[in-house]
Amino acid sequence: MPAQRAAIVTGASSGIGLAIAKVLGQEGYAMTVAARRPEKLEAAAEGLVAEGFQVQSVAANVSEEDDIKRVVDAHRERFGRLDVLVNNAGVGVGASVGDIATKRLDMQLDINLRSIILFYRDCISMLRDAAGEHKSALVVNTSSISGKHGEAWLSVYSAAKHGVVGWTEAMNKELGKDGIKSTALCPAFVDTPMTDFVKEHVPAEEMIRPEDVAESVRFLLHTSAACVVPEIMFVRPGEAL
Ligand SMILES: NC(=O)c1ccc[n+]([C@@H]2O[C@H](COP(=O)([O-])OP(=O)(O)OC[C@H]3O[C@@H](n4cnc5c(N)ncnc54)[C@H](OP(=O)(O)O)[C@@H]3O)[C@@H](O)[C@H]2O)c1
Repeated sequence: MPAQRAAIVTGASSGIGLAIAKVLGQEGYAMTVAARRPEKLEAAAEGLVAEGFQVQSVAANVSEEDDIKRVVDAHRERFGRLDVLVNNAGVGVGASVGDIATKRLDMQLDINLRSIILFYRDCISMLRDAAGEHKSALVVNTSSISGKHGEAWLSVYSAAKHGVVGWTEAMNKELGKDGIKSTALCPAFVDTPMTDFVKEHVPAEEMIRPEDVAESVRFLLHTSAACVVPEIMFVRPGEAL
């Protein structure tokens, strides 16, 4: 059934992506949610449906071009329109520069940066149609505070996330006048499975909540067509900028 408003959220099976999916559901968006592991994604999608949201799930590895196309085609088929695209799937693998394994380098660039570029390309016609209607199509790209300040050991992740900020800026210059707005989210440590490795040193309760980041998407959904928010940084109290 065609939807009034619809969104795609990648990396929606946990953490920040799942929190953003909840906000989109509360705001009345029908959604396609995508993530890599099918069982985890299915459980998350069932939770969203139980909250009364209109959701379809498509398991996909966003480092695969064909999987991205499959997500976008399934979304078009089911909902017929795309008002909001959330490029959130991401991974970080630490290594010192001399130890960077090519496979992990490629994986991080593919998931964190290349997939975002391919999603824009494959979604652009639906985003243009939505923008033609209401001048406020929105693309949210989850970068990181590591996309603003380079991090030792997480250097490849930092480089990819800087790329996300640069790509977002380029898209605002290229598509902003057409009513397609892009925002890069740049959080410091958020309490999600991704930061489990660091919780021995930074307690989970001192980390930013996934819902803090998701609330920023609610704000973005309500900004007028005259306002673009290129990026939002989220830091912990006292953290140096
Ligand atoms: N947590 C933080 O401190 C923090 C800070 C700054 C930025 N971020 C960014 O926030 C985003 C979300 O991370 P999170 O913290 O919410 O971590 P998370 O809970 O581990 O969620 C990551 C999501 O991305 C999906 N994903 C990973 N690789 C994928 C792939 N190849 N194809 C499709 N989906 C894939 C995961 O699905 P599977 O579990 O099935 O792989 C999961 O749904 C990432 O882009 C991350 O870089 C996180």
